[in-house]
Amino acid sequence: MANIVVLGTQWGDEGKGKIIDLIAPSFDVVARSQGGHNAGHTVYIDGKKIVLHLIPSGILRADKLCIIGNGVVINPAAFLDELAALESYGIKISENVAISKKAHLILPYHVLIEKISEKRLGAKKIGTTSRGIGPAYQDKAARLGIRAGDLLNLSVLKEKIEQNVEEKNIYLEHFGEKILNKNRVFDEFAAYAQQLKKYIKDISLLLDDCIKEGKPILFEGAQGTLLDIDHGTYPYVTSSNSTAGGVCTGLGLGPDKIDAVIGITKAYTTRVGAGPFPTEIHGETGRLLMEKGNEYGATTGRPRRCGWFDAMAVAYSCRISGINKIILTKSDVLDVLEEIQVCVGYEYKGEKLRSFPSEIWELAEVKPLFKKVKGWTQPVTGIREYSSLPQAFKDYVKLIEDLIQAEVSIISTGKERKDSILLEKNLAPLMDLDKIKAEI
Ligand code: GDP
Ligand code: IMO
Ligand code: MG
Repeated sequence: MANIVVLGTQWGDEGKGKIIDLIAPSFDVVARSQGGHNAGHTVYIDGKKIVLHLIPSGILRADKLCIIGNGVVINPAAFLDELAALESYGIKISENVAISKKAHLILPYHVLIEKISEKRLGAKKIGTTSRGIGPAYQDKAARLGIRAGDLLNLSVLKEKIEQNVEEKNIYLEHFGEKILNKNRVFDEFAAYAQQLKKYIKDISLLLDDCIKEGKPILFEGAQGTLLDIDHGTYPYVTSSNSTAGGVCTGLGLGPDKIDAVIGITKAYTTRVGAGPFPTEIHGETGRLLMEKGNEYGATTGRPRRCGWFDAMAVAYSCRISGINKIILTKSDVLDVLEEIQVCVGYEYKGEKLRSFPSEIWELAEVKPLFKKVKGWTQPVTGIREYSSLPQAFKDYVKLIEDLIQAEVSIISTGKERKDSILLEKNLAPLMDLDKIKAEI
C-alpha cells in the first residue's frame, strides 16, 4: 500500500488527530516531521479524550511504530510527560516510539527568550503557544542548537549547554528576565538523557528499512499550511515547514517515497493567535461556531477565532503541497445554520486576485467575495453512507470540490472514530479500507 502525507490546509486544528487515528490501521508506521508540542491533536475514543502534542496520533493503535523526525523540536520534559500519560491510559510504550538523533531540543532559555520577544512585540505579538518553539528553531538555523544525539555524549552535552546558557544569560539579564544556572540545566538534561536514550535512533535509516520491508507509512502533519514558515501568513506563522516539502527534510527521505498527499480541511475556518483572517466572522454566528465546534485550543485552551470556509486559502494550500484529495472535518458543526457562506475569491483595491496573497498587509485588506448557500439544518452525525446525507450537504461538498479542485475522500461528522463516512472510490487506491473499517 501507499505512503501518505496527511496535513492541515488551513491554520491548524483541522482535526488531524482524529483522522490520523482513524486511518492508522492501514499503516505500520506513523511519522511526524516538524513542529513540536505547540501541536495539540485530539482523539476521542468511546467518549474518552486524549490530546497528543509530540507523539504521533498513531500511538493509540496497537503495533504502530511512531517516529519523531529531525524536523521536530523536542522538549524532553513534555515528551516524558506525554509518554507517562499514555501509559496511564494503558498504552504500552517500548520499541514503538523512536526519536531522531538529529531532532533539536527545546531548552529552558528558549521559553524565556520567547516570552521577552512576545512582550517586546506588544500589540504586534504573534500569539505563540509559549512553548519555546520559535527560539529553538532560531538556534537550529544559527547552528547553536543542541540535538537529541548530543544526549548520548554527556561531555559534549555539558559543553554545549554551558556555551548556550552563558550566551543566553546575557540576553535574559539585559531584558530583566531571570538568568539560568548552567550546572542545573546540565543536571536536568543529563537526567533526561538517561530516560530518553533508548528512543534516540537514526530515523532516516529506520524509515528506509521499513520502506524496504514494504511497511506503509503515514506522515502526520502538525499545524497547517497557512502557518508554514515560508508559505504561511508570515510573520504570523510557526517556525517550521508544515507543508509537504517538510516531510522529506524533516525525516530524511526522498520525495519518491511519498505516494500521495491528503489535506485535512475543516468545513469552516479557525485560527488561534494573531494575524489576518479574511473570512473571520465577528458576532453571533462566529460565537455559535466556536461553541458548537468547541473551538478552544488543544494546547493553550485559547478560544479559536472562527470564520467561513475560504476556498482561496484551501486552493492555495492544495497547490503548495500537491493535494488533490481532502478529508472534510467538522461538517456537523454547520448543522444549525439556515445559511452558510463560502469565500470564493478575493478582491484587492477593486481587482480580483488570482491567488492567495503572500503579503499580510495585502491579505489584511482583501475583500472576500462570498457565495451564500442553503444550510441542511439537520444533524448529520450518525449518518454512515454518503447517499443518506441531505442534498444541501452534498451540494456544499460539491461546491468545495469544484472551488479547490480536489475531491473529498472522507467526511467527518463528529469527533468519534465511527463518525466518519469513507468515500471508497476515492480512498481505495491509497489505503486498506477493510483494515480501517474493522477497527472503527
Ligand atoms: P488537530 O490539531 O488538527 O489534530 O485538531 P485539534 O484536535 O486541535 O482540534 C480539532 C477538534 O475537533 C478536536 O477537539 C476534535 O475532537 C474535534 N473534531 C475532529 N473532527 C470532528 C468532527 O468531524 N466533528 C466535530 N464536531 N468535532 C471534530
Ligand atoms: P496543530 O498541530 C493551531 C499557532 C499559534 C501562533 C503561531 C505561532 O494542533 O494544528 P508557535 O508556538 O508555533 O511559535 O506559534 O502558530 N499554532 C497553532 N495553531 N494549531 C496548531 O497546531 C498550532 N501550532 C502553532 O497559535 O499563532
Ligand atoms: Mg490542534
